[in-house]
Amino acid sequence: MKILVVGKGGREHALALACSKSQLCTALYAAPGNPGMAKFATCVDISDSDIDALVTFAQENEIDLTVVGPEATLALGIVDAFQAKGLKIFGPTQAATQVESSKDFAKKIMAKYHIPTAAYQTFDQLESAKAYVLEQGAPIVIKEDGLKAGKGVTVAQTVPEALEALEIAFAIPNNKVVIEECLVGFEFSLISLVHNQTVIPLEVAQDHKAVHDGDKGANTGGMGSYSPVKKITPALKQAALDEVICPMVDAMQKEGVPFTGFLYGGLMQTKDGVKTIEFNARFGDPEAEVILPRLESDFVQAMLDVLEDKEVKLQWTNQVSHGVVMASTNYPASSTKGAKITIPEDLNGYVYHMGTKVVDGDLVTDGGRVLMVTNMADTLEEAFEKTYADVERIQCDELFYRHDIGRKDMD
Ligand code: AMP
Ligand code: GLY
Repeated sequence: MKILVVGKGGREHALALACSKSQLCTALYAAPGNPGMAKFATCVDISDSDIDALVTFAQENEIDLTVVGPEATLALGIVDAFQAKGLKIFGPTQAATQVESSKDFAKKIMAKYHIPTAAYQTFDQLESAKAYVLEQGAPIVIKEDGLKAGKGVTVAQTVPEALEALEIAFAIPNNKVVIEECLVGFEFSLISLVHNQTVIPLEVAQDHKAVHDGDKGANTGGMGSYSPVKKITPALKQAALDEVICPMVDAMQKEGVPFTGFLYGGLMQTKDGVKTIEFNARFGDPEAEVILPRLESDFVQAMLDVLEDKEVKLQWTNQVSHGVVMASTNYPASSTKGAKITIPEDLNGYVYHMGTKVVDGDLVTDGGRVLMVTNMADTLEEAFEKTYADVERIQCDELFYRHDIGRKDMD
């Protein structure tokens, strides 16, 4: 089969690598791909937002299956465009992508179908939003509507912090804001392969969203992750499926927006049970880089079977997978470009490229999150040591990283 992976980050690197290991894969393309993917896939110079060009490429090259990484590409309607031409693609339609692209859409469905989530209200006016914050007090969570690459959320510990976040959000014309109760608990990511009523859960991972050690500082797209997550027992995972994921899949079908693709549940285990923080309409990043290497069954076969509503039994290694993101100085506020990176050939683990490019033969930074350094081992502690030993050997003047990825699950 000829397979096309759309996107250029670490998640797409992991999706493509998993596809490349499939018995079914005879040719693998990435659009636009990245220097890490270029080692095992053919990178084609088409932007992940140029839907017309992607359709034409898939038609001319007789692509049998397209797998989409970024939410922005899904929100542009790539799945609708491919399906209109009879091209097989694994991902949600533009309408179903709203589960991520509109916090308000997701919250309304959760409320209607009693899917556990934080209490909330939506506002389109600064003054009424401010009045609500003053009435509720802190801590409180401010979420801008729309796609924000993980950066549109402020978990405000004080009222002035919440009010400032509202000022910033409403400086954008026609912005909507969801204001939520602040949940306390243990966060985890549960991603499933979904088609109509078929839900095939993958292994659980934990992301680290805050930029600094100890979960301090601004929210990012994610600074590191590991899988499996010891604290999320099989019983807790099953509860998350029964109470959140399956009811949401069912609800979307009942609402006339059935979901196909990777449904990402950002969940929190609280003292009152599992609650939904958010849904995403695609694989997590940096979750893909630690979950997919643990999959021993054929990833491409799994997607094809799910598309045909077949039950799929996935096999996983018991090994623990751990990864640390190396990001540009000042991420998430800004990103540097063009700083030279040297990666030794003999690292313990595997390096995913999140934001790199090759200029005049040198690998250089090209974005906020730049690399994800990963390792597998029998224990989280061992994988942690191996990853950080690798991270310290990567040379670049413009990168920083968190030092405590996975620590919380080690006690
Ligand atoms: P989101 O983009 O909705 O996943 O939010 C980013 C991060 O903010 C989450 O991963 C949580 O760490 C935090 N967060 C979001 N909503 C809440 C909430 N209601 N209570 C506590 N923390 C939250
Ligand atoms: N790691 C969080 C996300 O992919 O949204």
